[in-house]
Amino acid sequence: MSERTIALVTGANKGIGYEIAAGLGALGWSVGVGARDDERREAAVEKLRAAGVDAFGVPLDVTDDASVTAAAGLIEERAGRLDVLVNNAGVTGGMPQTPTTVDPATMRAAVETNVIGVIRVTNAMLPLLRRSVSPRIVNMSSTVGSLTRQTTPGAETGPISAAYAPSKTFLNAVTVQYAKELRDTNILINAGCPGFCATDLNGFRGVRTPEQGAAIAIRLATLPDDGPTGGFFDDSGVVPW
Ligand SMILES: NC(=O)c1ccc[n+]([C@@H]2O[C@H](COP(=O)([O-])OP(=O)(O)OC[C@H]3O[C@@H](n4cnc5c(N)ncnc54)[C@H](OP(=O)(O)O)[C@@H]3O)[C@@H](O)[C@H]2O)c1
Repeated sequence: MSERTIALVTGANKGIGYEIAAGLGALGWSVGVGARDDERREAAVEKLRAAGVDAFGVPLDVTDDASVTAAAGLIEERAGRLDVLVNNAGVTGGMPQTPTTVDPATMRAAVETNVIGVIRVTNAMLPLLRRSVSPRIVNMSSTVGSLTRQTTPGAETGPISAAYAPSKTFLNAVTVQYAKELRDTNILINAGCPGFCATDLNGFRGVRTPEQGAAIAIRLATLPDDGPTGGFFDDSGVVPW
């Protein structure tokens, strides 16, 4: 087995996921670049390697059972275990998303990737994570999934969103349930929000850089053994549910 810490980042070919991979790689970790498109994945791996990161490509579509199973097989073969899983891949599902007019396909797309995709990948990787000394799971959520923030007068709540924001609320709830089930293990699982970052996801309207957005994922990926589990955090600390 490799002595380096082994991480997998889903949706790591661009945006915040790429910067999470770069940040974990800068720690000297071996980083699996999970991405569904061969060319985009290989381009990201090459760029990370050129920056000195021990990066390797992991073909991975989080909505596809066979792809996720094959990804777990690839990591098992390469490293024999997984120390850190960052469930970063996400989609809005398509805009606009007003609840009164939303297309059910938009709802399904957001939930399939942002929630079921996370469950699919996490469960496939759990046998490998259980072999780690200090396993960590980070779910990239969003403060738009905070019902407290959405209902706080004057708070920045983003656009009306019937699919994307509730999919992150759903993801937060699922994160809590994982933490409950895994409470007696050494696995820490938390949700993090990167803040509003300029990426493809929002037409580059975000005000933070993807690198700034990656910081919370890196913090949650490197928690000490007595760190929190089942929580929701951003750079400022705890985010209300
Ligand atoms: N940007 C923000 O302001 C912001 C704020 C809060 C939370 N977040 C969250 O942060 C995470 C990263 O977002 P981002 O802003 O970096 O978005 P992005 O630039 O659009 O990147 C999304 C990544 O997810 C991948 N992806 C989508 N569907 C996938 C699938 N089925 N299988 C595998 N990979 C898939 C994309 O791959 P392709 O290139 O193949 O499409 C891409 O690599 C998301 O979970 C997002 O919800 C972002």
